[in-house]
Amino acid sequence: MQPRITKASPDAMKPKPTDVSKLGFGQIFTDHFFTMKYHINKGWYDPVIEPYRSLKLDPASMCFHYAQEIFESLKAYKNQNGMVYLFRPADNFHRMNASARRLCMPEVDVDFTLRCLKNLVLLDNDWIPKATGPALYIRAVMIATEPAVSVHPSNEYLFYIIMGPVGAYYPQGFNPTKIYVTREYVRAVRGGIGACKAAGNYAASLKAGEAASKMGYSQVLWLDALELKYVEEVGTSNIFFLIGDELITPNLSGSILPGITRDSVIKMAKLWNMKVSERPLSIDEIMSAQSKGNLKEAFASGTAAIISPIGQIFYEGKEYVVNDGKTGTVSKKLYNELLQIQYGEKEDLFGWRVPLTE
Ligand code: COI
Repeated sequence: MQPRITKASPDAMKPKPTDVSKLGFGQIFTDHFFTMKYHINKGWYDPVIEPYRSLKLDPASMCFHYAQEIFESLKAYKNQNGMVYLFRPADNFHRMNASARRLCMPEVDVDFTLRCLKNLVLLDNDWIPKATGPALYIRAVMIATEPAVSVHPSNEYLFYIIMGPVGAYYPQGFNPTKIYVTREYVRAVRGGIGACKAAGNYAASLKAGEAASKMGYSQVLWLDALELKYVEEVGTSNIFFLIGDELITPNLSGSILPGITRDSVIKMAKLWNMKVSERPLSIDEIMSAQSKGNLKEAFASGTAAIISPIGQIFYEGKEYVVNDGKTGTVSKKLYNELLQIQYGEKEDLFGWRVPLTE
């Protein structure tokens, strides 16, 4: 199977941002997108790369009722020499398939989908910011489209990929953020869909995010849903704490997203001979380390956020400062090296980079 390609006519092409240093996040989309349909009797069919347009969906489409909607995010990076790279893209489609299995949705063929993505990125190559930091954000989505309202796994689906140039996810850029520990809301519970990149997880997070924002905090630090004791994620990202010389991230207990940036951080830090632990980490352990001066750094990791240092933590009515509210050495080193790998500026010891241009 090959994707059918229809190019946008030159007069239908949208103006591209002129100053990539001023890009926000996720509001601009390129000239083309990819779609592919699924029917239980046919499998995936009709893969098309075509000019970006609105979707036409039956209002009874099951994604609107029962939240069979999963997605993935990755980025395309262009360096000063015009070389374009994807970062661990097959991992995204494998993770999408894991989400699909959990939500009774069909899996995609990883090699084929990746080939279609490469075609799409190269077609919209001129949209990729040629700068370190800004990049082309790629959002792959699968939704249930069978028109039906009885509760069952949909028999029809739409898979699509849209893309757009982005700058930093947080308005603070790489400066430390302030986070808010909520004991009122939880993001996900073991046995649920917290380990999937499912739209419903993000809907569940909005109320707490709003509460945090009203208090002047940029993200929520989520605790486990069963005991409200162990940290899980921060905002839409995974989380790391440097306590003494141990770099700790919560173990994948079933309610935590297996982040690709999280995995990259673990592998890089191990390569640097750091002591890295994936283990349950209680909020009490973090607060105790903070009071003893052992909490050296905290940071979020994710495709959108990259590495985002944390400067303050609000917990039980008090604000605790991490590393004097400054970006720590480990956060800085991880951020810099990750970007160097992603932009083809450093040897890729792990084989993560996929070049799209010669
Ligand atoms: C990402 O890190 O790319 C994510 O998927 C978070 C997103 C919801 C903005």
